[in-house]
Order: sequence, then C-alpha cells, then structure tokens
Amino acid sequence: MPETKIIRIGIIGSGGIARAHASAYKKIPNVEIVAVADSMEGKAQAFIDKEELHAAAAFEDHLKLLELDLDGVSICTPNFAHHETSVNALNAGKHVLVEKPMSVTLQQSIEMVEASRCNDKMLTVGFQPRYDPNMALIQEIVQSGQLGKVYFVETGGGRRRGMPGGTFIRKELAGAGAMADIGCYSLDMALNALGYPKPLTVSAYTSNYFGTNPKYHKEAEHFEVEDFGVAMIRLEGDIVLNYKISWAMHMDTLGATMFLGTDGGLKVTPAGSGPWSGVWDGSVGSMSLYHDVANQNTQTSIPVIQHGLNLFDEKVKDFVNAIQYNRPAPIDGGEILYNQAIIDGVLRSAASKREVTIELP
Ligand SMILES: NC(=O)c1ccc[n+]([C@@H]2O[C@H](COP(=O)([O-])OP(=O)(O)OC[C@H]3O[C@@H](n4cnc5c(N)ncnc54)[C@H](O)[C@@H]3O)[C@@H](O)[C@H]2O)c1
Repeated sequence: MPETKIIRIGIIGSGGIARAHASAYKKIPNVEIVAVADSMEGKAQAFIDKEELHAAAAFEDHLKLLELDLDGVSICTPNFAHHETSVNALNAGKHVLVEKPMSVTLQQSIEMVEASRCNDKMLTVGFQPRYDPNMALIQEIVQSGQLGKVYFVETGGGRRRGMPGGTFIRKELAGAGAMADIGCYSLDMALNALGYPKPLTVSAYTSNYFGTNPKYHKEAEHFEVEDFGVAMIRLEGDIVLNYKISWAMHMDTLGATMFLGTDGGLKVTPAGSGPWSGVWDGSVGSMSLYHDVANQNTQTSIPVIQHGLNLFDEKVKDFVNAIQYNRPAPIDGGEILYNQAIIDGVLRSAASKREVTIELP
C-alpha cells in the first residue's frame, strides 16, 4: 500500500470562521495544519494555543506563511483581504479555499481567477450550502426540463433581526453588507440550479435604515454597509432574477425562492424560525412543485432530503480531497465570478441609481 501523503495546510486570518476551518481539518486524518497567519499581533499564536495546533508556526505577515511548503491555504480574513491573500497564495503555488464572498469587487475576483489559471492551482469558494444534498435536488429539478423554459427566478430572503457587527459592517473591511454576506448563498443556489448563466445587467436599490439607527444596532455609528437590498438582474437566456435580502426589517419574511417556468414552478423555503432565519443558508424547509395534471392546477410536495451532514466539514473535506486526488476546484472561482459580478453590479447600480451593465472577461 502506498503511504498516504500528508496534506499540509496554512490558515490566513484566525478570527471566528477560522475556528470552523481548523475544527474541520482536524477531523481529517492525513491533514496537518502547519501554519497560521493573522495580521493582528499575537492573534495567530493565541489561535494555535487555543486550537491545540502545537506543531503549527505563527506569523503576522501572510507572505511569510506562504514561503512554507504547503499544499493548500484557507483564507479566513475579512472580505477586503480575500483578493490580496488569495492572489499571493496562488502565485506561491498553493491551492486556495477562500471564504465567501469571493472578494469585494468584480475586478478582484477576475484577478483571483487569473492567478489560479496562470499558476494551475485551484481556487475554490467556501459556499458550504452546496454540500446540502437538497441543492443537487433543486438543480436536478430545474435542469430536468419539468419546469419548461425558466423565465423568472426570485431568491434571497430576509431576517427580521439579524445584523452582524465588527468587521462585517465596516465598508473598508467588508466591502458590502447583507447583499454579499448572506445573499451570496441564495444567489449561488439560484445560479447553480440554472447552470450559472452570465449576468448581463443589474438595477438595484440598497439602504441601511436599521444598521445606522442606535435603536436597532449597538454599533450604529460604525455601520457603513447596506442592511437591505433588492435587485433586478437580467441573465443570459432571457431569464430575469429578482434578488432581495435584509439583515433587518419590519416583516416576517421576504418570501421563498421561486423558479417560474412555462410548464411548472418550483418553490423552496428556507428552514428555521426566529429573527435570524428566513434566508437560505443551506437548510431547506420545504419544496413544492406547481404544475398542471390533466388540466388541473396541482401542487406536489417534494420530500426534503434529511441528512446528518456538517456542511462546513464537507466543504473542507472536499477541498482536501481535491488536492489529494488532483481534482478540479469543487466550487470553482471561475463560476463564482458571476456571483461576485452581480454583487458588484448591485453596489454600482445602487450608488448611481441606474441600471448598470456587467462586463465580464
Ligand atoms: N462560510 C461561512 O459560514 C462564514 C461564516 C462567517 C464568516 N465567513 C467569512 O469568513 C471571513 C472572516 O470572517 P470572521 O467572522 O472570521 O472575521 P473575523 O473578523 O472574526 O476574523 C478575521 C481575521 O482576519 C485577520 N486579518 C485581517 N486581515 C488580514 C491579513 N491581511 N492577513 C492575515 N490576517 C488578517 C483579522 O485580524 C481577524 O483576526 C469573512 O469573509 C466572512 O464573510 C464565512
């Protein structure tokens, strides 16, 4: 039996989500976390101690970490640093798993994909909801032809109260608010089901009436991003996508994800209850098919696949497997570019109060 190669991993950014990465890597027998970098003094070493990664080296400068012999790197920095750290890691010959959203601007994502292609290293984006088997089911239903020609899709959702703070609300660190933070998952669900058609134009509105109001947010004075947004996006293939997200609102729901086709419609509701629910994050509450049977309007309930998977662990495991077996990126940055293009278009359109065109390479 050939000896199993040890996959050597580095983690850049050692805040909240890095813990979920470390926990997932630790469950995989042939993985070693070799180094952790965090730009805040002492933070990487504290993380190493807390996570008991005793063999790992600590760095403040991620470039020092990238000098090591590593197979892959998890990028767990705030959004603004995804671009620089990913490009540097790819140029240093490491495979990259970058947290969501992919970047702040479309141009940054384009450069990340270019670095991946030039260096022949994978760039995968951390959309763990993809590992819910219901995602594959939704895709199968939409692509089976049962809906006929799909002409309209609505996705997104809304939390009644669910605004984060810290790095998530500062423009220079996060780049965008709810539309990128929680919205990128529902965009991925819709676009993945449709086969990731090219986005062509975006007309968007965003606001932040809740985040900037001290009555609703204790960090209101630092709140610089959108807590609500709505956009109409034209997609290749004459499909219109209505995309809406809220971190906070005076309403119970912003509705379900819906695919309208000439022969049928599919409605998907997110699971969960309470003020932080109402937005797709990888857990399906219900799925219904609306169609005609013998000319009768019919609603068929599609059983939701129950699974005991830890979706986060699955995404990290898949990254490691792709490295080990030399497979393509599980959630390819080249595809997620379209997701980022929409978020970039939302921000441009909301700022200019006009429809904008999406220019893709
Ligand atoms: N997939 C998910 O479920 C999920 C959940 C939460 C957050 N996220 C994403 O993970 C990312 C990080 O979120 P978080 O909650 O861990 O943030 P955080 O603020 O808790 O941690 C980020 C860390 O990165 C460090 N950092 C900043 N710039 C750096 C640089 N250039 N080099 C090295 N370290 C740097 C900061 O000092 C901080 O310790 C965000 O992009 C966020 O959207 C994903």
